[in-house]
Amino acid sequence: MIIYKKATLDDIKGIQELVRDEVINGIILPRADDEVATNIRSYTLATQKDEIVGLSALHIHASHLAEVRSIVVKRELRGKGIGAQIVKKLLEEGRLLGLKQVFTLTYEKEFFEKLSFKEIPKESLPISKIWADCIKCKHFPICDETALIINI
Ligand SMILES: CC(C)(COP(=O)(O)OP(=O)(O)OC[C@H]1O[C@@H](n2cnc3c(N)ncnc32)[C@H](O)[C@@H]1OP(=O)(O)O)[C@@H](O)C(=O)NCCC(=O)NCCS
Repeated sequence: MIIYKKATLDDIKGIQELVRDEVINGIILPRADDEVATNIRSYTLATQKDEIVGLSALHIHASHLAEVRSIVVKRELRGKGIGAQIVKKLLEEGRLLGLKQVFTLTYEKEFFEKLSFKEIPKESLPISKIWADCIKCKHFPICDETALIINI
């Protein structure tokens, strides 16, 4: 059974383990333990028998705008709806917080389109995203990710 829950500081090690391969592949940005701790309230986890098998974070950029970032599901459990369920939980959290829009920058365009996200030009993303995060990316400044957004 998969249980969805908010992360706590005890989950940092498990979060880092789950993202490790995708960080090495340059798919997910590396984040130090302290940065994960600072943002721990943004993470939603999928767990199975106390193991973290999926995660993503809702990172707030402005009073109306947040970002779904660092989404990953354990390889053996992909294609079973866990990723979609995590994003739905994050969008519900965003609605409750009073957000109006959620964007993502991703290599998984079709996954997000199935969740009703729509492609937008990357240039329309907030500048803070570019400076705070993109410069940490292996691929910066040649970015081949797609930007997508959803009104919530
Ligand atoms: C992207 C990822 C999180 C998706 O999680 P998942 O649990 O496998 O996805 P789901 O099973 O919830 O898929 C939901 C829907 O999206 C579709 N989908 C998922 N990945 C897809 C892909 N790569 N291409 C096309 N469709 C995809 C599924 O077929 C499913 O469609 P359905 O609703 O018609 O059945 C997972 O593949 C993953 O961890 N990938 C590696 C990390 C990564 O690339 N993260 C994105 C960073 S940019």
